[in-house]
Formats: sequence, structure tokens, C-alpha cells
Amino acid sequence: DRDRVEYHMYKGVPLPSHLDPKDMDDIQDFTVRDDDVFIITYPKSGTAWLQRIVSLLHFGGDVSKTDRKEQDELVPYFEQKVGDSAAFRKLTEVPSPRMMKSHLHFSHAPVQLTQGKGKVIYVARNPKDLAVSYYHFHFMCSTLKTPTSWEQFLQEFVNGEVSRGAWHDHVLGWWKHQDLPNVLFLRYEDLQKNTRKQVEKVAEFLQWPVTPEVIDKVVEESKFQKMATNPNTNKVSGKEAKAGIFDSSKGTFLRKGVAGDWKSHFNDEQSKWFDTFYQEKLGPTGLHFDFQ
Ligand code: PPS
Repeated sequence: DRDRVEYHMYKGVPLPSHLDPKDMDDIQDFTVRDDDVFIITYPKSGTAWLQRIVSLLHFGGDVSKTDRKEQDELVPYFEQKVGDSAAFRKLTEVPSPRMMKSHLHFSHAPVQLTQGKGKVIYVARNPKDLAVSYYHFHFMCSTLKTPTSWEQFLQEFVNGEVSRGAWHDHVLGWWKHQDLPNVLFLRYEDLQKNTRKQVEKVAEFLQWPVTPEVIDKVVEESKFQKMATNPNTNKVSGKEAKAGIFDSSKGTFLRKGVAGDWKSHFNDEQSKWFDTFYQEKLGPTGLHFDFQ
């Protein structure tokens, strides 16, 4: 339970036990290839959605190809250690273009990536919906501390005491570098509003040739309902479930997939306090979320 789970501090950021400090050090020297694709997020921002979109784009929308493997095998979790070694150590044998997902802070990412080599698709989600999603996820993920209440979780989230630390540090770390030619900065809410437009943006950014028919297929196959019912994407019995990291009897990875669920969790007081806190952090930076 809660008391059995520990986070360790790595350069000021609380991280879960499956992230080895030695791995984290070595990640900085990772050799990036020009055509590498990194999907980077703070947890619960739309990582799995982008994994699906990018793999569908890669295979021209052909689900018989994407669904030969579980999504997390096709687009591995870069820094995660399941079994004997972290995923990034096995990537030297993977043919290009390599597709990877990661929750690394800008300051913890491979140095070459931060210097413009390879490609980063960063996805940000409004912190209210994100906190709700993260809260529910803590019940099903064994490497995270089970919340004692929503109030207590929210306080830890704002304090940056949760795994991966303060959301604003993560998102602003990447936001400050959104002008790098190898970084595409997306918002979960924009994906919700107009998936097609964002999928086109991704294809253009990756310079992968696509037809309108391929885009149609990618939009269709990456829909929440499709992913929730597909065993390759819903994580009910996938790699992490088999490793005992996810317990699907305690929650659902593809939970709701909507914008605005914060309204069913925050009371007025929490909402005002939260808005004031993040307005102070984000206001001067130009990063804005449309979630009223
Ligand atoms: S993780 O653990 O960090 O990789 O999680 P992540 O994939 O970033 O976030 C999970 C939330 O994203 C929602 N999701 C989607 N929403 C809309 N459409 C699609 N296709 C989709 N796929 C995943 C997922 O439901 C989680 O959000 P909540 O609010 O909990 O439902």
C-alpha cells in the first residue's frame, strides 16, 4: 500500500522505484538518431494517445501492422526498467525510425535531444483534468502511493510531492524550448477539439508522407473507444499488467478520455486555490490552457 511505496529524489525530482539513478545518469549520454521520435509528457497528458497516433502514421493507418504488437512494445517507455534492464538500453538494435515514450524533464533528457537532434512531440494537458486522471491512476499503479483522499492527493500534486515532481516544472521546462526546430508542443485539449488538425501537424512535423485517407484512418483508429476496446492499447492485460505494475481490478487506464472531468472532483475552494497557484506559475510564461 501507500506506506510500502517509496520515491527517490533524482536531481530534486521524486521518481518511482523503476527508475534507476544510474540509468537516469546514462540517459544523458544516449546516442540520438536524426529520425528518432520521442513522445514526452508529464504523466496522464495524452501519452498513450500520441503513441497510437504516431504508430498509426508510421504504418500508414494499417492496423494489421500496428496491432501485431502491443503498443508499449512498438513505442517503448524509454526510461522504464521492467526486469533486468531499462528500455533505452535495448534500443541500439531497433531499426529506424525509433518511436519512444518518456516522462523525462527537459534537464534529464538525452543531451543530444535537447541540442536539436531527433524529434520531440511534447503533449501538455490542463493541470486540473490531469490531477484528476493522475489521482485515479494512483489506485491502479503499484509504483505510486495510493491516495488517502482527493484533498490530500491534490495538496501533494500542487506541492510537487508526487512521482515526477511539480507539473509546472516539467511542462515549463519543455515549454521554454518549444521554439527548438525539433520540438512540437501539443495540448491534449486541442487534440480533443480537432484531432484531425493535430494529426496533420504531427505528420508534417515528422515529415512522414501521408494522404488524406491515411489521416482519416489515423483519426478513426486513435479514438478513445477504439483504444479502450483494443487489447493492444487498453493496457488491461499488457506488459505492465503482467509485470504487476498495473492492477486492472483497481482502475482503468483508458478511464474517461474527456476534457472537463475536474468539475466533478474540485470544490469551489480547491478550484480557486488551484487557479491562483497556477496563474502565478504560468501567467508570465505565455503557456495557456483553455479549460473553463
Ligand atoms: S501515462 O500513464 O502517463 O502514459 O498516461 P497518459 O496516456 O499520458 O494519459 C492517460 C489519459 O489519457 C486519456 N486518453 C485518451 N483521451 C482521449 N482520447 C484517447 N484516444 C485517449 N487515450 C488515452 C486516458 O483516458 C487518460 O485520461 P483520463 O482522464 O484518466 O481518462
